[in-house]
Amino acid sequence: MPLPKCVALDHLDPGPAGWRHVGTRVTYGGYVRPHPDHEVWVQDGEKLSDLVSAVNFSGRLWRDDRIDALSETKKWLKGKDAWVVGSYPAAFAVFSGGIVGTVINLIGVHPAAAGLGLAERLIRHVGGTFTAGTYEDNAAARRLYEKLGMKEFKREEVFHEN
Ligand SMILES: CC(C)(COP(=O)(O)OP(=O)(O)OC[C@H]1O[C@@H](n2cnc3c(N)ncnc32)[C@H](O)[C@@H]1OP(=O)(O)O)[C@@H](O)C(=O)NCCC(=O)NCCS
Repeated sequence: MPLPKCVALDHLDPGPAGWRHVGTRVTYGGYVRPHPDHEVWVQDGEKLSDLVSAVNFSGRLWRDDRIDALSETKKWLKGKDAWVVGSYPAAFAVFSGGIVGTVINLIGVHPAAAGLGLAERLIRHVGGTFTAGTYEDNAAARRLYEKLGMKEFKREEVFHEN
């Protein structure tokens, strides 16, 4: 099944007729001083299947119960470079080049390794100017971006077409 079309508006009410509100997305941006980490390396995203299955993601695909978010995410990871930390990775991040700096497309940490600073290490290893989106209710991701010195600069209401 194709993924539903998605729109982001700066207001919730009125939303577009026939579209479902999936959440409030906040976008962070800022400069993170690089801090190279000898335990960070790049792996084929396809090899992260077990880790990806364990992470409690909260992006738009995961907020829509009409979508098989896990298989869509695994499909998306095929052929992508994922930055990982440690020899048996418990954390990964996929980055891409944006208009300004680097976009954090996807970042995830195994729940058993949460709060140990693994996500921070991945981002600091790459360093530079980043933008990253997450949802308003994702306290761990927001805390992560804020402690890296990034600032919220955009807030949008996200809708999926029925
Ligand atoms: C967001 C995520 C990547 C953070 O990974 P992490 O390795 O635990 O991150 P770090 O340890 O570097 O930093 C997380 C910070 O958030 C804090 N935190 C964790 N859970 C929290 C919660 N529920 N509420 C508030 N803060 C929280 C941690 O204590 C830490 O802050 P501190 O260093 O000041 O103590 C991880 O929680 C995750 O994989 N979440 C699911 C996927 C996800 O949401 N991805 C990102 C957005 S799409």
